[in-house]
Amino acid sequence: MDSGMDWHSAKAALDWQVELGATEAILDTPVDRFQLPRSTARPAAKAVAAPVAEPVRERAEIDAVEVARSAAGAAGDLAALEAAMAAFEHCELKRGARNLVFCDGHPAARVMIVGEAPGRDEDRIGRPFVGRAGQLLDRMLAAIGMDRASDARETAVYITNVLPWRPPQNRDPEPAEIAMMLPFVQRHVELVDPEVVVLMGNISCQAGLGRRGILKLRGQWTEAYGRPALPMTHPAYLLRQPNAKREAWADLLSLKARLG
Ligand code: URA
Repeated sequence: MDSGMDWHSAKAALDWQVELGATEAILDTPVDRFQLPRSTARPAAKAVAAPVAEPVRERAEIDAVEVARSAAGAAGDLAALEAAMAAFEHCELKRGARNLVFCDGHPAARVMIVGEAPGRDEDRIGRPFVGRAGQLLDRMLAAIGMDRASDARETAVYITNVLPWRPPQNRDPEPAEIAMMLPFVQRHVELVDPEVVVLMGNISCQAGLGRRGILKLRGQWTEAYGRPALPMTHPAYLLRQPNAKREAWADLLSLKARLG
């Protein structure tokens, strides 16, 4: 292209078109509209981008959810589910992540913990809850005799996250990102088939219950992914607000009592 544009300006112009809703190039060869005489410089109707951005974006999201649903539904076991997630190309978070963080613990466990998303340590190591919050989670579980390293069904725990890839700067995941990964979480729960699910933190409640407000939801048994679920405050929150550990302890006792 000889438009006088350098690579970065051309890329910015392309990004802008995508932002406006252009999803594909319609002509076979690029047209340098800067070189056309003024009267013909207006794009031909066939060559223009879709004019309205939002419906196009919405359609793209719906497609990603559909793709996820069919990929997750086709996974017959955990290894196949992990492979299906690794092959899923619609979530931008994947591009910035070092590792897919799938799970830890024992798949025969009676309790499945669904956290939010990997942080820096989890992204580096490829396992959920291995940083400071994870260490606190391990201590919390130990206090009720549970251990992710246990092989015994009674004391084992299985751990995963709503998002398998670390969001940049640990930002909250976008609703669209949660929506497109939700079919994988749903299938994950089906395959592990735990007796109860712990929804760890707000993002997990958003995914499993469709609402946030963890400080109100915590400690109240509800249903998510078709089975009993207990929302709990996230250990990262407990690190910032040690006073909240009292309620978290009550929730752990409630979990223990539920398991009998
Ligand atoms: N927080 C989470 O919710 N999940 C992790 O894996 C780590 C921190």
